[in-house]
Amino acid sequence: MRVDVFTLFPGMFSSPFAESIMQRAMTQGLLDLRIHNIRDFTTDKHHVCDDMAYGGGGGMVMKPEPIFTAVESVFGMDQAQPIAAVPVILMSPAGRRFSHQIAIELAEHARIVLICGHYEGVDERVREHLCTDAISIGDYVLTGGELPAMVIVDAVSRQVPGVLPEFAPKVESHADGTLEYPHYTRPPVFRGWAVPDVLLSGNHAVIEKWRKAQSAERTRESGKAS
Ligand code: ADE
Repeated sequence: MRVDVFTLFPGMFSSPFAESIMQRAMTQGLLDLRIHNIRDFTTDKHHVCDDMAYGGGGGMVMKPEPIFTAVESVFGMDQAQPIAAVPVILMSPAGRRFSHQIAIELAEHARIVLICGHYEGVDERVREHLCTDAISIGDYVLTGGELPAMVIVDAVSRQVPGVLPEFAPKVESHADGTLEYPHYTRPPVFRGWAVPDVLLSGNHAVIEKWRKAQSAERTRESGKAS
């Protein structure tokens, strides 16, 4: 899967993808993550990417021209994949809320584009005429769209076949609308806290039943029960 990210702060993306599963996915060619600096696509001497908001109110707004030029030049280099077929997603606290289901849907695409907003926001013409979607990772406002983009790259790439190790559990929280049951490993007793007896019983039917009940209880407690 190829992901093109457009940002004013490309350096933010180095370390989270230089370790662990994401790093391996990139080395194995399962994730082709390309980070583009929007500032490289400005045409003025000072590489200006923001300007004052029309109508006042303070705060700077990201200008449309460098963002359009950036995205279009990357797609211009690759005629094989017309932009119309690729989700172009703006990271925005005003977007639709990201979820496990959206991660699965996005992972079905061979390619996606993520645009990171900054300052007070992004000129609305980017959302209207360049993006196909806007996504928020939660009901809070971050200083920019970089962390949301990283969250999305992580959640989406782990849905790409081969990215997770083969032994990774097939059942996980949110996959079927429920939360996962609790996990334990050795030692059987840690600081006086014992692993539930049922898990040491070796009786797989009973363990399965216990896990289902735990999962239902956690889901109910979290308020996510459908
Ligand atoms: N940019 C700032 N806050 C955000 C959020 N919660 N989700 C996506 N993009 C954002």
